[in-house]
Amino acid sequence: MAETTLHHSTDPFTDGEHSGHDPAVHSSDISTCGPDDGIPVVDFDVLVNGAADRRAQAIRDLGRACEDWGFFMVINHGVPEELKEAAMETCRELFSLPEEEKAEYLEARPMDPIRIGTGFLSVVDGVRYWRDYLKMFAHPELHCPVKPPKLRDVAAEYSAKTRGLLLVLAKAISESLGLDGGRIPEAMDLESCFQILVANHYPPYTGPGGAGLGLPAHSDHGFLTLLFQNGVDGLQVERDGRWRLAKPLPGAFFVIAGDQLEIVSNGRYKGALHRAVVGGERARMSVVSMISPCLDAVVEPVPELVPDGRGLEFRGVRYRDYMEHQQSNKLDGKGALDFARVQRD
Ligand code: SIN
Ligand code: FE2
Repeated sequence: MAETTLHHSTDPFTDGEHSGHDPAVHSSDISTCGPDDGIPVVDFDVLVNGAADRRAQAIRDLGRACEDWGFFMVINHGVPEELKEAAMETCRELFSLPEEEKAEYLEARPMDPIRIGTGFLSVVDGVRYWRDYLKMFAHPELHCPVKPPKLRDVAAEYSAKTRGLLLVLAKAISESLGLDGGRIPEAMDLESCFQILVANHYPPYTGPGGAGLGLPAHSDHGFLTLLFQNGVDGLQVERDGRWRLAKPLPGAFFVIAGDQLEIVSNGRYKGALHRAVVGGERARMSVVSMISPCLDAVVEPVPELVPDGRGLEFRGVRYRDYMEHQQSNKLDGKGALDFARVQRD
């Protein structure tokens, strides 16, 4: 099938997407996961333009969303629908390019600025990898495959618009922690942030064992992730030990709190455990924009949230090292956070 043109060997450095032994898939909870109407919704327009009392309420709601879920939807975000469509369409074109057009990016390593990859049929925690992806570093410098030709312009505009949106959310999150809006962004040098764009393509599949295909459970290594999909559901978020299917409101983005938010808030806010579960007649696609600390920033809990240094959960870790660690290992739920966790006997 046209969608499954990316077949190449996987190595231990392709985002942990190992091929190889294929143990049984335990998918009992996958089929029973239903949509969750309780996913918090943040109205971006209220955060930016709302009267003081409405804005204060929105900040409190945002804080609760980060505390209880590490996940929410954002509406009235100001990113034009046409730009989102152009981003989705251009990524679709990329995935349907002949394999030789993508070959130079296929064997890339975790810290290479452009990576195209695929992972089929290896199993982690009951979900089998079944996706093609493009990852590109977008800021401070945009790295981009030369084809499709319009990708560079679309990616430049999309990354700039979504970076602006995510930085405003970062300031609001800082306020929700009782800090100045600039405190969290400054703590990790977010103004000159490191940003990645990712496009995921999950081919259609109606064969046997299709209940557990997609992307295994993980939390994101960055600070905040913005995501939208092509109208095909599949993103699931864990809360209170249960998987919930995320169904977007029209035009909304999903926002996923990443590990760096968990670290800088000393665990008060949670990086959301999430996965994609697909399988069916329609291909699924998602477009992801993630902001992170500067690669050389050392991220640690802000001291204001750790009175007298008591209860310190995480040590300072250079973000570049954290990212490389997470990307070089098999996705392992929230296991990557142990890299930064203060070990207690
Ligand atoms: C991801 O977690 O990177 C992608 C999830 C999705 O495709 O919805
Ligand atoms: Fe993710």
